[in-house]
Amino acid sequence: MTTTETHSISLTVNGRTVDDTVEPRLSLADFLRKRLSLVGTHLGCEQGACGACTILVDGQSARSCLMLAVQADGSTVETVEGLANGAELHPLQEAFRQTQGLQCGYCTPGMLMRSLELIRDNPTINAEQAREGVASNLCRCTGYQYIVEAVVEAAANQAGTQPSQDRG
Ligand code: FES
Ligand code: FES
Repeated sequence: MTTTETHSISLTVNGRTVDDTVEPRLSLADFLRKRLSLVGTHLGCEQGACGACTILVDGQSARSCLMLAVQADGSTVETVEGLANGAELHPLQEAFRQTQGLQCGYCTPGMLMRSLELIRDNPTINAEQAREGVASNLCRCTGYQYIVEAVVEAAANQAGTQPSQDRG
């Protein structure tokens, strides 16, 4: 008789401690989506190419389709579900909404999490830096312009200032 090896993991997801037992091959994306019902993290290519599954692990963006759940043991994970404060959108979500930085929305959760990393790392990010930063995530709809505007806008709003740089 064969038994499936499992591992106990403990991690923090959007501020909540999660203890679970997982099979070693379970991806972090599937753990979030299937075990925790955090389906805001989207799956596209499942090969590390598109960025749709981007989350933050210990503050760094990571492709959750390429990570195993066991690798997140002891980590702090942030997903798109953790952005809003109740009914109040996160400044990034509000900026994406206002600039129409999304169309079909498939890339948006990953784009938001990558953008969060960008504005945390560089609160005065300009358009060029934002464009370079989000290039890691594929968007088929927007042409990136409105996403770039949203990132710059959100950074400026968080800092309580208006964007001073050319957004183009
Ligand atoms: S689904 Fe993970 S990078 Fe595409
Ligand atoms: S909004 Fe459709 S893929 Fe980005």
